Amino acid sequence: MPSVYPVGVRPGKKDLGKNLIRAAIDLDDHLRKCGKNPSKSFPNCERVSISIILTILDRRQKEVRMTPSILVAYATSYGSTQEVAQSIAETLRGHGLEIEVQPAKKVKAFSGYRGVVLGAPLYMFRWHPEARQFLARHRTVLASLPMAIFALGPFHNKEDEFRSAREQLDKELAKFPWLKPTAVEVFAGKFDPDKLRFPYSLMDPLRKMPASDERDWEAIRAWAAGVADALKVKESL
Ligand SMILES: Cc1cc2nc3c(=O)[nH]c(=O)nc-3n(C[C@H](O)[C@H](O)[C@H](O)COP(=O)(O)O)c2cc1C
Repeated sequence: MPSVYPVGVRPGKKDLGKNLIRAAIDLDDHLRKCGKNPSKSFPNCERVSISIILTILDRRQKEVRMTPSILVAYATSYGSTQEVAQSIAETLRGHGLEIEVQPAKKVKAFSGYRGVVLGAPLYMFRWHPEARQFLARHRTVLASLPMAIFALGPFHNKEDEFRSAREQLDKELAKFPWLKPTAVEVFAGKFDPDKLRFPYSLMDPLRKMPASDERDWEAIRAWAAGVADALKVKESL
């Protein structure tokens, strides 16, 4: 039976583990508030308890370090948005943020996330259905988190294509009036007629279009750097 009860915790036999963790957390907080290093100073503790608490604290600190703080979620049909999401994640990491990248459809829980970047391509004037489902499914939690949004769309780096894609995206986002993103951006996309799947593979005008990859990696990195700053400000509020 441990003999350390720094916050007056008296563990019973059944909930010993729970109480011990609580005690360790409180002790850790207390020592930090006093400006002390928890792993070096444990006043009024007996040796056996110290080693148990040190183990728990060590585990907890590892958990804190491993908790991802920003989720980069994406939807994709042909892979180009996934590559953009990964590039954005790299830039965010370069700005000191903990990042996890996941397909939007696989995200189940949000514990530990302090912000979300959601990206998806436009298809036939609509945002990818998995991005829309992501917003609808996780509405409650997303409404309280800072979010940044991007879409891939234009086949070419042309102003009219960008204007049209932005209109398409804005129309989609307007269906989620609770959504107040800190940043919204459209990037040019990638197109390969040889990879078109049914039903697009039957559409002659699409099949005859030349392959293109107009993704502007510099613009993508610059946008991600701005998002990193915006999310850091929100995190510190
Ligand atoms: C069949 C098809 C329809 C598309 N429709 C649109 C569209 O309506 N608006 C737009 O801006 N881009 C459109 N695009 C361009 C895609 O958004 C772009 O190719 C994007 O990079 C694809 O992303 P993915 O590789 O992650 O699936 C379309 C592309 C294809 C192949």
